[in-house]
Amino acid sequence: MEEKIRLQKYIAQCGIASRRHAEEMIKAGRVRVNGVKVTEMGTLVSGRDKVEVDGKPIKKEKRLVYIMLNKPAGYVTTVSDPQGRKTVLDLVQGVEERVYPVGRLDYDTTGLLILTNDGDFAYKSTHPGHETKKTYIAEVSGLPSNETLRTLREGVVLDGTPTSPAEVEVIEIRDKSSVLKIIIHEGRNRQVKRMCEAVGHPVLKLKRTAIGKLTLGNLKPGEWRYLSGHEIKLVRGIKNGRKTGTGK
Ligand code: URA
Repeated sequence: MEEKIRLQKYIAQCGIASRRHAEEMIKAGRVRVNGVKVTEMGTLVSGRDKVEVDGKPIKKEKRLVYIMLNKPAGYVTTVSDPQGRKTVLDLVQGVEERVYPVGRLDYDTTGLLILTNDGDFAYKSTHPGHETKKTYIAEVSGLPSNETLRTLREGVVLDGTPTSPAEVEVIEIRDKSSVLKIIIHEGRNRQVKRMCEAVGHPVLKLKRTAIGKLTLGNLKPGEWRYLSGHEIKLVRGIKNGRKTGTGK
C-alpha cells in the first residue's frame, strides 16, 4: 500500500509551497482532500487521494531535484521581487521542475545557494534549531582585535539574544580591511553582517562558501549544477545531525 504522509508534507513535496506555507494554506481553508475541505494538520494522504489547492488538483513532483548555484551579487533569493529586481530563478534556466531557494542570501551576498523542489527538505533545513552550519568569507573594515574576535566567537547580542557560538578566524589582513572566515550554526536575518557591525567592523563583501559539508568548489558566479547523489545525501543527512529518510 502506498505510504500515507501528513497533508502539509505532501503539499510541500508537490513543489507547491514550503511546508510552513502549506500549513497556512490548510488553515486558510484552501485545501481539499477527495472533495472535502480540510483545515486539520494531522490529515494523512497518499498519492491515491485527490488533493486540491485553490480548486486545482496537485500531484507529487515526479523527480526531486537539488541544485547548487554560485549566486552573484545583484540577485534576490525570493521567487519574485515587488521591486522588479532579478531573482536567482533567472539564473537556473532550463530546469523543468519548479525549484526555489533554500534559505536566503542578501541581494549583495554571493556564493553557495541550494535550490530544490523538495519543500520538505527546504522546511527541515531552515527550521530553527535544525540549521546546518554555514561557512562565510567576510571582508570587514579594519582588523578586529583578539578581544573582538573572542566576542564574535562567544556571542554578540542581536535583538536582545546572544548569537550561538561561532568559529571565527582572520585569514587575510589588507590595508584597511581584513578577511574573516566565519562559521555560524543558526540563520538569523543578515546575521553575519549584523554580528560584524555590532563589534564595529562592518562587512564590505560577503560570500558563502559551504553549507554543512557541501562546498561551492570552483563553480563560477552565476553558474549552477545539479548536486550529485552523494552531495544530496550530504545535505539531507546533516540537517539535524542524522540521516533523515529517502526523499519521499
Ligand atoms: N549573513 C548576512 O548578513 N547576509 C547573508 O546574506 C547571509 C548571512
